Amino acid sequence: MTEILRLPGLVDVHVHLREPGQTEKEDFSSGTRAALAGGFTTVCDMPNNAEPITTLERLEAKIALAQQKAVCDIGFHYGTVGDNLDTFAEAAKHSIGLKVYLNNTTGGYTLDPSRLKEIYAAWPRDQVVLLHTEEDTIDIAIASLEGLSRPVHVCHMPSRVVLEKIMAAKAKGLPVTCGVTPHHLFLTENDVERLGVYGMMKPPLKSQADQDFLWAHLDDIDIFESDHAPHTHADKQAGAFGVPNLETTLPLLLKARAEGKITLEQIIDKCFTNPSEIFGLPTDDSTYVDVKMEPYVLHNADLQTKCGWSPWDGEEMPGHVTRVVLHGQTVYENGTFPADLHPARVLTPFAS
Ligand code: DOR
Ligand code: ZN
Repeated sequence: MTEILRLPGLVDVHVHLREPGQTEKEDFSSGTRAALAGGFTTVCDMPNNAEPITTLERLEAKIALAQQKAVCDIGFHYGTVGDNLDTFAEAAKHSIGLKVYLNNTTGGYTLDPSRLKEIYAAWPRDQVVLLHTEEDTIDIAIASLEGLSRPVHVCHMPSRVVLEKIMAAKAKGLPVTCGVTPHHLFLTENDVERLGVYGMMKPPLKSQADQDFLWAHLDDIDIFESDHAPHTHADKQAGAFGVPNLETTLPLLLKARAEGKITLEQIIDKCFTNPSEIFGLPTDDSTYVDVKMEPYVLHNADLQTKCGWSPWDGEEMPGHVTRVVLHGQTVYENGTFPADLHPARVLTPFAS
């Protein structure tokens, strides 16, 4: 008999939905439909828009657009390159976390790491600061945690060296959590030749040994974060970093479960329980996802994401989302959305 799984509505605290400014890549409508189709009922959107979300006006404008167009629950991370600390207190009331880039990536909004302590002091103590670090910036990120009593989340563990340093920081009791993306768990540098520009993202894909280390230390990784980063084909050809992932994260994890690499409990912990707790996001018993464990082949043409491609095009997946119920209402069923899809709830942390 075909196995049916009922999961809580999954939470992805790391997506790039591109609106406003780059709606040719994605927008709140297509991006949140991709979320629902992939089993995610809550997403948190990153601030590296074409015009970065580093002012209250831009944050308000973005929230207003999402209120009109998003179809799953959505929160926002505020951004900084160090020149807007006076806006933090007000921005935090409307944000989930503060995202800081210590490496160059899409948008190029890199922060001088000598400013980190100041940034930590200015952002409310109970709200997460998220760091984009890589091998060359992890030491300075870890050093910034010394003596800190506020939550810091280090995004997308790419490699053994980075995860080992996070593990050591955790062992010292420093207030840090970390995440990992599907691409770092399911692709390696060996796939880059085959995928070409579609295998380019930040942090880049690493060795098989690095990936094996991530799988072997899954218990030290708090959350799965998709880093859904849609770009048009033309932008990828021109060198844009990132891959879409909202519709592939859960199928890939179910594949790993079928291979005995992860349990359903671990998937729920890292895609629901831990992200909700770490980021202070509300949960709701009447929000859930049904998954049918029936193999299917993932095709680009079936994706909801506007960018219309995936590194896993043509791959067989062991199960797919058949129904999503959000706050008691069916919002996705067998590939379709009801005509009267109700608008999203915009989330702030630790609200009841
Ligand atoms: O590959 C990436 N794409 N990494 C990032 O850090 C940003 C993201 C994007 O916004 O495209
Ligand atoms: Zn990202």
